[in-house]
Amino acid sequence: MGTTMALFVLLLQLLFLWPTVAASPTVSMSKPGCQEKCGNITIPYPFGTGDASCYRDMYDVTCNHSFIPPKLFLANGNLEVLEISPGGQLRINVTVGYQCYNSKGNLTSELPTWVDLTENRPYTFSDSRNRFTTLGCDTYTYVTGSKGRNFTSGCAMVCSDQQSVVNGSCSGIGCCQTSIPKGFKKFDVELHSFDNHTKVWNFNRCNYAFLVDYEWYNFTVSDLLEYNFYYENGGSVPLVLDWAIENQSCKDVSRRNSTSYICGKNSECFDSPNGLGYLCKCSQGYQGNPYLDDGCQDIDECADPTKNDCKAPGICINTPGSYNCSCPPGTEGDGRKNGLTCIAPVRAMKQSQLIQVTAGTGLSILFLVICISWLSWGFQKRKMNKLRDKFFQQNGGLLLKQQLSLHEGNMETTKIYTADELKKATNNYDESRILGRGGYGTVYKGILPDDKEIAIKKSRIVDGSQVEQFINEVVILSQINHKNVVRLLGCCLETEVPMLVYEYVTNGTLYHHIHDEGHKASISWEIRLRIATETAVALAYLHSAASPPIIHRDIKSANILLDDNYMAKVSDFGASRLVPLDQTQLTTLVQGTLGYLDPEYFHTSQLTEKSDVYSFGIVLVELLTGRKALEFDRPENEKSLAVHFVTSMKEDNVAAILEERVLKECSKDQLRRVTKIAKRCLSVKGEERPTMQEVAMELEGLRRSNRHPWVEHNHEEAEYLLGEASNPYSCNTTGYDSLTDHVLISLDSGR
Ligand SMILES: *[C@@H]1O[C@H](CO)[C@@H](O)[C@H](O)[C@H]1NC(C)=O
Ligand SMILES: *[C@@H]1O[C@H](CO)[C@@H](O)[C@H](O)[C@H]1NC(C)=O
Ligand SMILES: *[C@@H]1O[C@H](CO)[C@@H](O)[C@H](O)[C@H]1NC(C)=O
Ligand SMILES: *[C@@H]1O[C@H](CO)[C@@H](O)[C@H](O)[C@H]1NC(C)=O
Ligand SMILES: *[C@@H]1O[C@H](CO)[C@@H](O)[C@H](O)[C@H]1NC(C)=O
Ligand SMILES: *[C@@H]1O[C@H](CO)[C@@H](O)[C@H](O)[C@H]1NC(C)=O
Ligand SMILES: *[C@@H]1O[C@H](CO)[C@@H](O)[C@H](O)[C@H]1NC(C)=O
Ligand SMILES: *[C@@H]1O[C@H](CO)[C@@H](O)[C@H](O)[C@H]1NC(C)=O
Ligand SMILES: *[C@@H]1O[C@H](CO)[C@@H](O)[C@H](O)[C@H]1NC(C)=O
Ligand SMILES: *[C@@H]1O[C@H](CO)[C@@H](O)[C@H](O)[C@H]1NC(C)=O
Ligand SMILES: *[C@@H]1O[C@H](CO)[C@@H](O)[C@H](O)[C@H]1NC(C)=O
Repeated sequence: MGTTMALFVLLLQLLFLWPTVAASPTVSMSKPGCQEKCGNITIPYPFGTGDASCYRDMYDVTCNHSFIPPKLFLANGNLEVLEISPGGQLRINVTVGYQCYNSKGNLTSELPTWVDLTENRPYTFSDSRNRFTTLGCDTYTYVTGSKGRNFTSGCAMVCSDQQSVVNGSCSGIGCCQTSIPKGFKKFDVELHSFDNHTKVWNFNRCNYAFLVDYEWYNFTVSDLLEYNFYYENGGSVPLVLDWAIENQSCKDVSRRNSTSYICGKNSECFDSPNGLGYLCKCSQGYQGNPYLDDGCQDIDECADPTKNDCKAPGICINTPGSYNCSCPPGTEGDGRKNGLTCIAPVRAMKQSQLIQVTAGTGLSILFLVICISWLSWGFQKRKMNKLRDKFFQQNGGLLLKQQLSLHEGNMETTKIYTADELKKATNNYDESRILGRGGYGTVYKGILPDDKEIAIKKSRIVDGSQVEQFINEVVILSQINHKNVVRLLGCCLETEVPMLVYEYVTNGTLYHHIHDEGHKASISWEIRLRIATETAVALAYLHSAASPPIIHRDIKSANILLDDNYMAKVSDFGASRLVPLDQTQLTTLVQGTLGYLDPEYFHTSQLTEKSDVYSFGIVLVELLTGRKALEFDRPENEKSLAVHFVTSMKEDNVAAILEERVLKECSKDQLRRVTKIAKRCLSVKGEERPTMQEVAMELEGLRRSNRHPWVEHNHEEAEYLLGEASNPYSCNTTGYDSLTDHVLISLDSGR
């Protein structure tokens, strides 16, 4: 039944697409009955050739068939046209000015160059597309132009040898480019040489000067050699002209209600970017020649999949100037790929799921199993605790509410991905795409069709706690928008295991950077301090900005991700909670990670905001010492990293356990302050720990004083704190060495 349905859908699509594909019309760019092409050059109206009715006054061009292929010329002149763009530009072929010398310094050949458009009223040299360009190694040139005002500009260059010329870069050695002013219609070029090329003749014999379409011309060293440039380009280069209708702006023509307004139906007028006159363009959703009355034709977006974002089973319907996606009966949504697509209402969704899975009923049975287990899990919970059940319902309710808000067009923030999309993105969950594994499941890297990179978290097993964590994370993360918290892009509900889609954070975990072999000591103190600050800011935000507050409950270096700029992003909210907690749940679930876990938890079985502060303290000590939180939890090590750190602080010997690099780069004052923060965070009693906001502010202040090292500088205390002053460290990040340090000390003590 599934296959027949699929075939039917395919047939429907064919029926809808086929006739439109076949009937895509070719719209003529010129007036009916007029020559549209000269060789392969299209002549769009107002340009035209032949009969006077074929072109607008002054826009006549001539197609000379004595050339093969035929060449197109501007009306009253011999300027060869290479291309006419209805957007208001036109390319012509102009000769290059040059001067060549023999080894004795005698001029052997010379060609001046100039272009005069003053007789061709609608044209000016495009200031945005052209550059006046000079080539040569013993050269100075002038370009003069006029339109009412005159201007003179130029280049002068001497280079000693070929090696000094930079290949590929027109930067003033062998090649020089200058812009031209707006609105000019005439230019003249003069070429000169300082020493008649006698000193550079072995590699450069000629000067060249020309106005050229800069998108066309790229300089290479070989352009200076022999007569290469001349022969490679047939002695001429393309130049771009701007053209416009009349000499009045859109406002003028519309106010005057005049016959001089020639933009056709479904088109808009805009002022020429270069001088007087106006131009026309087809309105959005139309294409063709806006200067013809019926020139702008509706684009059939439905015929071209790249022009519409309807997605099967959504049906694309072309409308004048636009298109509409609609959903077949029985489904709802907007039919758009990046929108709501067409989703069957909840009950029908299972059906469409069945349809999609043509291979069999396996997945649907699984789906049913999930539904049943979800339900039974809900019932169990209800029995266990009424309060908790309320909490879960709230979660589920929120999730539903969120889905509803999705339907209301809030889809930029959280998106529902299909199973197929994610399967494709991860190359069918290929081993090579695995970013990490944990108790929760596996994180894969995915690449969407638009090359956007994502991280996909796939839970391992479907049991009650997994679904709970899943809902939890969606609910929590969808409320958060903070640059230091990993962003949830969406989720996928179609698969047997729910999946979450996050922004892909490029540079791995903090754990990796401070602990993994080959990375140790790879990040500077300044960056460490920034990471600590950003993490603290994120946690402070979670604790205070969100309502109700969010406790992360599993802060550790492995849950802090870094991007290319080492910006910290807190991740993994699977264990986190909105604060109005159900007290008993904590006993049933294993929370936190050993080594980071709040010691109070062992007495109270409860995690609070202050537990996050404790875990953060451990991360801070990891950053300071480069040691692992877990290593010290092994029995042979006796002490945890926290105890180890606090003890060494009490013994005034904290320098002994700090990472060498930190010791080197961190100022003594900073060390004193940051170790103090860490110590306070690691207080055994939660109430003695600072709040995350206090920590964040303190670290923020530290970073600022890092940039202004003269702020608060108490060396004696710092030395006392660090014990033996024999440590030969200097303060690199703060920008002064130990010598200035001494000066500062004497200043301090002098006060
Ligand atoms: C015309 O044909 C020539 C070569 O045959 C090509 O270089 C040029 O780009 C074509 N011009 C247009 C406008 O298609
Ligand atoms: C075409 O070009 C040739 C050669 O430049 C010229 O002699 C002839 O007069 C031109 N024909 C027209 C119609 O301009
Ligand atoms: C140019 O060549 C002539 C003879 O051909 C010579 O008399 C004259 O000196 C040369 N000029 C220069 C500047 O070298
Ligand atoms: C511009 O230069 C031309 C000669 O090239 C001269 O006749 C004219 O008076 C100049 N115009 C101004 C405004 O300087
Ligand atoms: C200069 O660069 C061009 C490509 O940009 C390359 O083809 C050419 O070989 C280079 N010439 C030299 C001398 O490096
Ligand atoms: C360059 O050539 C010109 C004539 O072609 C001559 O008047 C001038 O003296 C020469 N300059 C040098 C430096 O050779
Ligand atoms: C000129 O160089 C730019 C980048 O350096 C390149 O994108 C462009 O294609 C080049 N143009 C030509 C005509 O080679
Ligand atoms: C430009 O004109 C020159 C000489 O008139 C000719 O050799 C060259 O082929 C033309 N360039 C193009 C692109 O038509
Ligand atoms: C615009 O062009 C017309 C001739 O087509 C001329 O009479 C008029 O003076 C010009 N106006 C301006 C502002 O240049
Ligand atoms: C402009 O044209 C409209 C109709 O096309 C007419 O009603 C109006 O009076 C005209 N205005 C002027 C100033 O000519
Ligand atoms: C597109 O469809 C919607 C609903 O089907 C309708 O309200 C809207 O007017 C349509 N838009 C166009 C341009 O036809």
